[in-house]
Amino acid sequence: MQLVEANGAKIPAIGLGTWELRGRGCARVVEQALRLGYRHIDTAEMYDNERDVGEGLRASRIARDQVFITTKVWQTHLSPPEFERATKESLARLRLSEVDLLLIHWPNPQVPLAETIGALCKMKKAGFARHVGVSNFTVPLLREAVKLATEPLVTNQIEWHPYLDQSKVREACARNGMGLVAYSPVAKGKVKSDAVLSRIGRSYRKSPAQICLRWLVQQNVAAIPRTSRIERLSENIDIFDFELAGEEMDQIFQLVSPRGRMTDFGFAPKWD
Ligand SMILES: NC(=O)c1ccc[n+]([C@@H]2O[C@H](COP(=O)([O-])OP(=O)(O)OC[C@H]3O[C@@H](n4cnc5c(N)ncnc54)[C@H](OP(=O)(O)O)[C@@H]3O)[C@@H](O)[C@H]2O)c1
Repeated sequence: MQLVEANGAKIPAIGLGTWELRGRGCARVVEQALRLGYRHIDTAEMYDNERDVGEGLRASRIARDQVFITTKVWQTHLSPPEFERATKESLARLRLSEVDLLLIHWPNPQVPLAETIGALCKMKKAGFARHVGVSNFTVPLLREAVKLATEPLVTNQIEWHPYLDQSKVREACARNGMGLVAYSPVAKGKVKSDAVLSRIGRSYRKSPAQICLRWLVQQNVAAIPRTSRIERLSENIDIFDFELAGEEMDQIFQLVSPRGRMTDFGFAPKWD
């Protein structure tokens, strides 16, 4: 598995997204993914599945230190006491003593960023997280967060796929040694009917989703596609045996669209 190295963290380039997976089905998908070679699982307090993710991890019998687990603290828990309580509750649900990566899920303008970043760094110092980072941070917020942090921020987890231009955030991350983790990396399934990705895929005998994921990891970005289907678990990780040519990478960059964002979260910050 290719790794994305960022400020001391080694993040497996393909991880399993788990949003909307719950209960026994979620545990089964996590277990199966780990058996198929996934070593990175993405969950969050808000997904209401940390218990199931922990169960899947234990059922897989893969050693804990071989798996990179990310969780995130929700927007309404960003004041320092709430942040600490939420982190401890996530760990209790996962039945883990620490996660590999703890993220602020979404910024919250109601809580001073200095306080939240302080709480995030405190969780790392206390041994609850090996690494810390942010998610859904715009360029100005990222700049502020980096200035405030006393521990290295290793990633900004953001929506990214060929229909969205994330070059500014990418550059801001790179300037600070941070890696990107792409969420909704197959544009919520939309890529499967994309003509350009299908055409490129034909010469490699790969699906449009595989071409899309390859395009991301070839840029040294980690991607966390979610699937509830076992056959797609294998498909989404089978992208390390070919390389896209420079002109194919460029053709995929041209798919960008001004209305490319897949999810309009009502509480999202103003993107720049
Ligand atoms: N930080 C944040 O704010 C944030 C926001 C959104 C998501 N995330 C994280 O990122 C993960 C992924 O994002 P996402 O769930 O929004 O979207 P996604 O992974 O881009 O898309 C998931 C959808 O695509 C389908 N799919 C998956 N693999 C496919 C393939 N090879 N071919 C065709 N269709 C495929 C799945 O359907 P089937 O189940 O039928 O395969 C599912 O409906 C989430 O699960 C979550 O962990 C984070």
